[in-house]
Amino acid sequence: MSQSRKTPLPLVVLISGSGSNLQAIIDACAAGRINAEIKAVISNRAEAYGLERARRAGIPARVVEHTRYSDRQAFDQALAEQIDRYAPGLVVLAGFMRILTDEFVNHYRGRMLNIHPSLLPNFQGLKTHQRALDAGCTEHGVSVHFVTPELDGGPVVCRAVVKIQPGDDAETLAQRVLEQEHRIYPEAIGWFAAGRLQLVGDQAILDGEPVAQMDKTLT
Ligand code: GRF
Repeated sequence: MSQSRKTPLPLVVLISGSGSNLQAIIDACAAGRINAEIKAVISNRAEAYGLERARRAGIPARVVEHTRYSDRQAFDQALAEQIDRYAPGLVVLAGFMRILTDEFVNHYRGRMLNIHPSLLPNFQGLKTHQRALDAGCTEHGVSVHFVTPELDGGPVVCRAVVKIQPGDDAETLAQRVLEQEHRIYPEAIGWFAAGRLQLVGDQAILDGEPVAQMDKTLT
């Protein structure tokens, strides 16, 4: 196992909306459950409530609006410039609803995580809760993964399962999945900050072992 770091890992968190995952990460850092410091929160939407959460926690809150840029590449360049000002050791996508260019993703390879509300590799993309219901699944859930150019396709770090109950609709299911998001995302970030989690080639490695060969489903 790698030696755990003493100085807190600098994080930049990207959001687009409510920022409840951001809040879970802020709380986990404050409680000392993650040895990290959020240096900035950046949103592509000025009205994202997560910006208010950041300000309340005394964290610089920035907006880089995608609508102000002529194309994806120009937006990603502007975003990367903002992020890199803070020299993060890890970039955390927390409900950041933009497709990123390969160039951007490769720039942060091995140091960018995302949370996706499905049991990956099932249901990459949007409307995951409804799609799980429509497919007649008995289980659904959430995954944390390293970000690679394939949308929601990077190596999985950990997952949490949510049982689908009779009478569930997309909203009730989303609510229970979100509770699990708030639990597993800080945990995964904590592993990374402690030097326990790395991306090596195409594999997520935790405590020296490929995650793909373990069942990193957190119960
Ligand atoms: C979460 O369900 C996340 O998995 C998804 O967008 C939602 C963001 O929620 N990609 P919040 O902004 O963290 O409250």
